[in-house]
Amino acid sequence: INPDRVLAERDPMIYGQFLEHFHRQIYGGVYEPGSPRADGAGFRTDVLEALRRLRVPVIRWPGGCFVSSYDWKKGVGKTREPAFDKAWRVEEPNTFGTDEFHALCEALDCEMYICGNAGTGSIEEMSDWLEYTNLECEGAFARQRIKNGHAQPYGVKYFSIGNENYGHWELGAKERHEWARLVAETAKLLKRVDPSVQLSAAALPDPEWNLELIQRAGPYLDWISVHEYWDAIHTTNALASYEQAMAYTEKLDESIRKVEGILAATGYLGKIKIAFDEWNLRGWYHPNSHEVQLPTDKSQYLAPRDRNDENESYQMADTVFTACFLNALLRHADSVKMANYAPAVNTRGLIYTLKDGIVLRGTYHVFDLFVNQMGESIVDLWDQDIRRMNVTAKDGRNVQVDALDAVATRRSDGRIAVSLINKHPSDAAEVSVACEGCDGAGLALHSIAADSVFAYNDVEDPDRVRIEITKPEMAGGAVRLRLAPHSVNVLLI
Ligand code: AHR
Repeated sequence: INPDRVLAERDPMIYGQFLEHFHRQIYGGVYEPGSPRADGAGFRTDVLEALRRLRVPVIRWPGGCFVSSYDWKKGVGKTREPAFDKAWRVEEPNTFGTDEFHALCEALDCEMYICGNAGTGSIEEMSDWLEYTNLECEGAFARQRIKNGHAQPYGVKYFSIGNENYGHWELGAKERHEWARLVAETAKLLKRVDPSVQLSAAALPDPEWNLELIQRAGPYLDWISVHEYWDAIHTTNALASYEQAMAYTEKLDESIRKVEGILAATGYLGKIKIAFDEWNLRGWYHPNSHEVQLPTDKSQYLAPRDRNDENESYQMADTVFTACFLNALLRHADSVKMANYAPAVNTRGLIYTLKDGIVLRGTYHVFDLFVNQMGESIVDLWDQDIRRMNVTAKDGRNVQVDALDAVATRRSDGRIAVSLINKHPSDAAEVSVACEGCDGAGLALHSIAADSVFAYNDVEDPDRVRIEITKPEMAGGAVRLRLAPHSVNVLLI
């Protein structure tokens, strides 16, 4: 490691979170008025405490597919009318709306990132939304916010025009030429409301879609949004095994590189930043929700969603994969300046809530490790003799991937923090880390290891997967480590 050769500065917003009005993320997740664990605003204090430990920098809300038929105006004001959520075919009580989202972000000291309805909504409904949140007192919507008891504007910094409007599953889906024009015209309107708002738009790692979008709306965009769920089990819940999950790490940053390429080709690399604003190894399980033929029987489409809550689904595959993608985000710190884990709470999130407590899944501890131990500056790391391992992908291909994944950073306190991920399912990794100019003072190894690749946290055994700290020694200018199989480690030097 060469601590003086800084490659990039990472934006803390790569550790951002996503919350959608889906299943129990909001209602019964962060927001549960009446719960003995809720505060005066109705927020679960145990969930808030766990999120505060992750120093959440930004939350993207309210969707996701939900937003593409969401009427934000029904979610503000003294009386809230329930609405039928056509994205997920459930009743939306509208008791958690823009004002409650603002209160949540205030409680967490994090930025609000609103995703606007470019599906069934008009461009004016999106600009009305920004008037409500960001204008001081001019016009009907800012006045309505004041009347609703919120004198000060919310200063929403990030606003996304639409969510996945390229997808057939999305309500109000668009063709790429109409999408480019709609984004440009919406962006124009939003910038007239608040020129300081940073705008993003739904995009793809697909040149056709993005070229038209960027050529038409590029001058107005600060961000471009990309999503990825590698294990696409939305209709099957057939979870990829550990080995199959590791196979996904073969081209983990392919989407990022494609979008970087399109930005470079259009001259916007460095001007438009990438927001990877939905990502998770696992697609959420919601069968019979996006097909043309839909069931009327709720047991066919509502009940199955409860299976996202099964904690045994989130084993070391999720823990190790999540760390590998955070490493990929650090490697692309100069172009990816925001990322939002999908989601933060419940579904396939970091935190699982039950009536009288929470379970911190293995992925939560990965965020805890990266947010609290990894540094701000990415420094040069040169590796050799990295072991390769053969794994069989879900599609049957035999794939070779590195068994070790490492990124070095320098912290503001001057220490070097190196993430060292041993992806091998059964073998420990012998690693020697040399760092120019470093001494052996204050060495510490923070590790998420577990007794089995199938290990997960649940109510009965909530700390089976946890962070443990050991004190390695430096000898001859290097630190020799034996990293447990399927483990995520951060070495502090
Ligand atoms: O599976 C959940 C959905 O995934 C989100 O609502 C959407 O944005 C993405 O397609």
